[in-house]
Amino acid sequence: MTDTIASVDIEKTLSGQSPHRIMRYALENFDRIAISFSGAEDVALVDMASRIRPDVSVFCLDTGRLHPETYQFIETVRKHYGIDIDILSPNAEAVRQLVREKGLFSFYEDTHKECCGIRKIEPLRKKLLEVDAWITGQRKDQSPGTRAEIPVIQDDKAFAREGESLTKFNPLANWSSEEVWNYIRAYEVPYNPLHDRGFISIGCEPCTKPVGPGQHEREGRWWWEEATKKECGLHASNIEQPS
Ligand code: ADX
Ligand code: SF4
Repeated sequence: MTDTIASVDIEKTLSGQSPHRIMRYALENFDRIAISFSGAEDVALVDMASRIRPDVSVFCLDTGRLHPETYQFIETVRKHYGIDIDILSPNAEAVRQLVREKGLFSFYEDTHKECCGIRKIEPLRKKLLEVDAWITGQRKDQSPGTRAEIPVIQDDKAFAREGESLTKFNPLANWSSEEVWNYIRAYEVPYNPLHDRGFISIGCEPCTKPVGPGQHEREGRWWWEEATKKECGLHASNIEQPS
């Protein structure tokens, strides 16, 4: 198994490949690799991966603020694929302090940055110390403001251990939402029931709402904030140039 930095050549080759081929490359080249599963349509990744490696590692960032339907769905996925899902909780003391100082809905007043930092980014940072590569469900069409350029494979400088490399795979980058849904239907993949209720993009309950006809899916996320800031930090390189 190779644990190398994503080279330009590999990126070029993989960028024209199907999500299945990218997934296969990722799983065949990295032992310590995990899927970051949000409980939304990125379930397609879990399906693809479990056909290649039935005991694939999957983790969810349990912010404590997900919809009840999402928790139920995560459990459905766990049982359906017979996989372990590592459910990551935020640091209890950090959450306690935030809520004591600013209440349960501080993000509506001073942006989602602090809350996402505690509930998502820190648990993710800790988890990524255990792996050499991770796989996300990011797509270019999810957010024209921040994701139009995401590659299928990248060097994740934001979360790499000091002096080491961390590879990030985005196998669905070049797929449209429609293609993901065609896959989900064709392979009878279980999906979050919120999708049948107008939710396209699904995050935490207080920060996600259904969108109407003609609205972009990202308009249902952190709708009180500017489009170019709608990244919670999991995908920091989408808004910041890595140093
Ligand atoms: S976010 O950064 O705006 O929250 P989004 O909901 O678009 O991300 O999801 C993009 C990808 O980020 C998902 O497919 C998944 O890989 C990862 N992700 C987002 N939220 C979570 C979560 N709660 N747990 C694990 N992975 C997540
Ligand atoms: Fe907090 Fe909202 Fe971010 Fe969830 S999406 S961690 S509730 S700010």
